[in-house]
Amino acid sequence: MTEHLPAIDILSDRDAVASRAAGVIIDGVVSRRVRTLGLATGGTMVQLYARLVAAFRLGEVSFENVTTFNLDDYVGVPSTAPGSFRAFMRRYFIDLVDIDPARAHMPDGMASDIATEAVRYETLIRQTGGIDLQLLGIGSNGHIGFNEPGSDFGSRTREIRLTDETRTANAPFFVQGAEVPHRAVTMGLGTILEANEILLVAMGAHKAEAIAAAISGPISIMCPASALRRHPRVRIICDEAAASQIEGRVASRIRGIS
Ligand code: PGA
Repeated sequence: MTEHLPAIDILSDRDAVASRAAGVIIDGVVSRRVRTLGLATGGTMVQLYARLVAAFRLGEVSFENVTTFNLDDYVGVPSTAPGSFRAFMRRYFIDLVDIDPARAHMPDGMASDIATEAVRYETLIRQTGGIDLQLLGIGSNGHIGFNEPGSDFGSRTREIRLTDETRTANAPFFVQGAEVPHRAVTMGLGTILEANEILLVAMGAHKAEAIAAAISGPISIMCPASALRRHPRVRIICDEAAASQIEGRVASRIRGIS
């Protein structure tokens, strides 16, 4: 199978990363190359959404004609709970821009039957014509969406059990003392790899190992983000801290050392 090396932009700090990543999304939307946008949640995305909202307020971009599909949500967490990804998306993006809420899709972790919900979500993505640009964060264990290590590269939207590492990382989004859910519904790696373009954003030294494994380690289900090397149009935007452990041939190439 062909292996692709993602384009990688390494910037000095988080602000620069958020601005560059927001710029990629804004360019795509303004040029109408991106009509269907895959969205992500997590701490990394807070600054990025703030940039998109600021650009919207300045009249630089409109999301009126954009359809969105979020990667994932917890199972059994109502949208009123602060930790829910529905709440996150409303707080940081959907309620702050001109997107039609009826076109801002999320997998429903409150559905009575998650398997049926997963099929509904996949069908909706397909009927919309697929995702033009998928935004991704990365977990410190290399997950993308909630595809934890061990996820099949061909996996589709489904229910998954979260690792303790992921639950601990996401605990700050929940009210103190509230239990972080054990289960989530996530687009699969196969679903993600069908997007026309992929933009992965990473900030901070705690992401360095995962970024290094994703782009310079073995392509393996133990690092779900390494699946991105099976896709020809992936761009990674990260800060120097997140890029600090990239080694070998890839490091030489991106740092311009021969
Ligand atoms: P974070 O999460 O942005 O909160 O670090 C990223 C992820 O787990 O995908």
